[in-house]
Amino acid sequence: MIELKNDRFLRALMREKVDVTPVWMMRQAGRYLPEYREVRAQAGDFMSLCTNPDRACEVTLQPLDRYNLDAAILFSDILTIPDAMGLGVFFESGEGPRFHKPVRTESDINKLSVIDPYKDLPYVVEAVATIRRELNGRVPLIGFSGSPWTLATYMIEGRASRDFPLSKTMVYNQPELMHQLLDVLAASVIAYLNAQIKAGAQAVQIFDTWGGALSYDAYREFSLQYMKKIIRGLIQENEGRKVPVILFTKGGGQWLEDIADTGCHAVGLDWTTHIGIARKKVGDRVALQGNMDPAILRATPQRIREEVQSILLQFGSGNGHVFNLGHGITPDIKPENVKIFIDAVHELSLSRQNG
Ligand code: CP3
Repeated sequence: MIELKNDRFLRALMREKVDVTPVWMMRQAGRYLPEYREVRAQAGDFMSLCTNPDRACEVTLQPLDRYNLDAAILFSDILTIPDAMGLGVFFESGEGPRFHKPVRTESDINKLSVIDPYKDLPYVVEAVATIRRELNGRVPLIGFSGSPWTLATYMIEGRASRDFPLSKTMVYNQPELMHQLLDVLAASVIAYLNAQIKAGAQAVQIFDTWGGALSYDAYREFSLQYMKKIIRGLIQENEGRKVPVILFTKGGGQWLEDIADTGCHAVGLDWTTHIGIARKKVGDRVALQGNMDPAILRATPQRIREEVQSILLQFGSGNGHVFNLGHGITPDIKPENVKIFIDAVHELSLSRQNG
């Protein structure tokens, strides 16, 4: 087994001592990088990029070659599961994801079955193994999945949505049918993440991107419960090391105690939450990941550094902070600003540890 040369990301997730605060970015491989746009153009479209393990590996490593990132994240998408279930995912340029066959009725949902990642998504398993091999111990590799609720919203609406009219109607009018869908998705996510872990993912993140759109009661019943179930079903240790689970609920800042009680190792915060207040709420139960507003990356170098410093101060001293953005980096960001951000996290957290 190849030794990890930089494990501060895994150590911080387990709230162990680190030399400097580790940092990575959601969507770190993506359209803000010209080299990504080039490979994507060669691949033809986004799904062709995801389904080709060598190309997926290439774009996963691109941001690591430019920046001192402390983790790599598998290049893929949360919508691979609905695609494997036969919904036919495609991306219209500038419009986000669409589905040939959304699920709307009881009969649509009855037809769905739990995916077998080795049979239905072999390209993801292969991409993970390829990336681990090519990383050669540089930094840990993060695997990921969407939460059942977030996946369900895309499958039902058939596209990106702001208000989730059809999904919420199902929540309130046909809760049992919604639970049936979420059950199939939760079992699929468990199988999918465990396959990623066995193939070499050293930590996993569950993206509950649309959990924050629910009321508190509906969140607990239709999203949180299933994430708890997933965490219970995951392989806890691999290659002699714990496999930490990060749970990111966009808009979940009011429910941090509930999220911390799921059994996850770290809670991902969006930028609307004060990370110091979050820390007081969850205590030493979990590590925290986040949470700079991605829009700060449009500001001046000086302003970016100030924001990094401010978040480090808000978190305070002690273990358990993974620096990240509060959501994915957007395509309009200048690559040189990302370097300023990443370097500032290491530099300013080092002077804090020593000061
Ligand atoms: O973080 C990483 O670098 C890993 C790769 C990754 C992608 N999508 C690549 C991607 C990850 C972790 C995701 C997760 C994902 N996908 C989420 C959850 C994270 C979040 O943002 O909350 C969601 C909701 C999706 C669904 C999805 N995929 C949407 C809504 C879109 C369109 C968004 C847009 O900006 O157009 C995608 C496409 C997508 N996934 C792109 C990338 C790099 C852009 C596709 C392209 O190259 O055109």
